[in-house]
Amino acid sequence: MENNIKEILLTEEQIKNRIKELGEELTREYEGKDPVVIGVLKGVVVFYADMIREIKVPCQMDFMWISSYAGTQSTGNMEIKRDVTVDIKDRHVLILEDIFDTGNSLDYTYRHLMFKQPASLKICTLLDKPDRRRPGITLKADYTGFTIPNEFVVGYGLDFNEHYRNLPYVGILKPEAYETK
Ligand code: IMP
Ligand code: MG
Repeated sequence: MENNIKEILLTEEQIKNRIKELGEELTREYEGKDPVVIGVLKGVVVFYADMIREIKVPCQMDFMWISSYAGTQSTGNMEIKRDVTVDIKDRHVLILEDIFDTGNSLDYTYRHLMFKQPASLKICTLLDKPDRRRPGITLKADYTGFTIPNEFVVGYGLDFNEHYRNLPYVGILKPEAYETK
């Protein structure tokens, strides 16, 4: 185990099994619908690569890259660094996200994509931290991998200062690892 990790919250095996289950549900949901599956960069890349291969229907892939204007905390002032390029009007669209935290990013992404008038728009998030949700966010994920406690987690795509994304599991970062940065 990487020595800045206090505890492994989700093992590779747990993640893999849960993605298979979600894959079966999403395959049923999108059968015959030729969905556009949109990943929100960068945290989603690892989850996206595994999840998309368990959705066993023809689909199109696209990505959005959004970030907060200031600092590392999600502020609610979002900026689109890269928009989708597939025309999603009248298409069935699935958003894939790494984590539903305060909800600022997903809320912004959802509203941005709704404006393009898709036939349907659903959300699948690997992780959900409901304790952190900003009051006023009523958006819900349609599919959730794991509901997790209010801890800062890294790995499987999730970062702290762009590090730890390539860990194969989701781990809780030691407080010392924040304080030294
Ligand atoms: P939001 O607060 O729901 O808008 O989440 C914004 C972004 O913050 C997520 O897409 C993640 O990239 C990041 N984030 C939130 N919680 C964590 C965490 O526990 N570890 C790593 N990144 C996180
Ligand atoms: Mg991040």
